[in-house]
Amino acid sequence: ATGTEPSERSTGVRSPGRASVAARHLRTDRWWLAPAATAAGLLAFVAYSTWRAFANAHYYAAPYVSPFYSPCLAENCVPMRGGPNWALFGSWWGLSPALLILVFPLGFRLTCYYYRKAYYRGFWASPPACAVAEPHRAYSGETRFPLILQNVHRYFFYLALPVAGVLTYDTALAFRDASYAWGHAGLGTVVFLVNIVLIWAYTLSCHSCRHVVGGRLRHFSKHPVRYRLWTWAGHLNRRHMLLAWASLISVALCDLYVYLLATGAFDDPRFF
Ligand code: FES
Repeated sequence: ATGTEPSERSTGVRSPGRASVAARHLRTDRWWLAPAATAAGLLAFVAYSTWRAFANAHYYAAPYVSPFYSPCLAENCVPMRGGPNWALFGSWWGLSPALLILVFPLGFRLTCYYYRKAYYRGFWASPPACAVAEPHRAYSGETRFPLILQNVHRYFFYLALPVAGVLTYDTALAFRDASYAWGHAGLGTVVFLVNIVLIWAYTLSCHSCRHVVGGRLRHFSKHPVRYRLWTWAGHLNRRHMLLAWASLISVALCDLYVYLLATGAFDDPRFF
């Protein structure tokens, strides 16, 4: 050992070799606004989705099924005509069926590059904002357990694809009426359509998606199809943060819409 290897002690912003600036930061703008708003928005979603996931009720109002409960993988799901209701987990599962499926979109978002930045800043102040020193004495990035597990994001991307496929199927089912006749649409159909467009846009704007379709190529000219896909993924990827929030809000509103219908708060306005 030479004594000069990087160690945890030498990685904090106050460590030897870093510029000694006494002030915590030199920013004069309201830099704390973005992390504070991010933390508030994420907390609101976590509170709402936790309540709905454990509720185990009011998630189906024909022909709409809440995206929090689809596909339904346990026998204790309410009967959903034509819906993705596969009792893979049998009757021994007694908890809310939402808990079986939410782990996939949750894992996808929790390990997402954008959300990582959002909650590292919003909740851990690591760092709280650009050019604002973090309060922690040491920094090991994502090189150790548990944060090294963030590398599984690519696999959550693969798992998010079939989930988005099922939600697309649910959106097709929304073109029925309450007696399951096809060729109808209501306000709920629009809510489901907007949600599925945003879910797909967010999923396909994923950094892993961009790498899967266009990464590790030496010559784009020899792979015109993958180059084209990579270009499209890049266009979406530039809006990844926007799509992350838009799809998060839309999926919650979609669930809320089904909840309000299922509790009889109002009837779905029908267009045809
Ligand atoms: Fe955000 Fe993959 S980087 S979903």
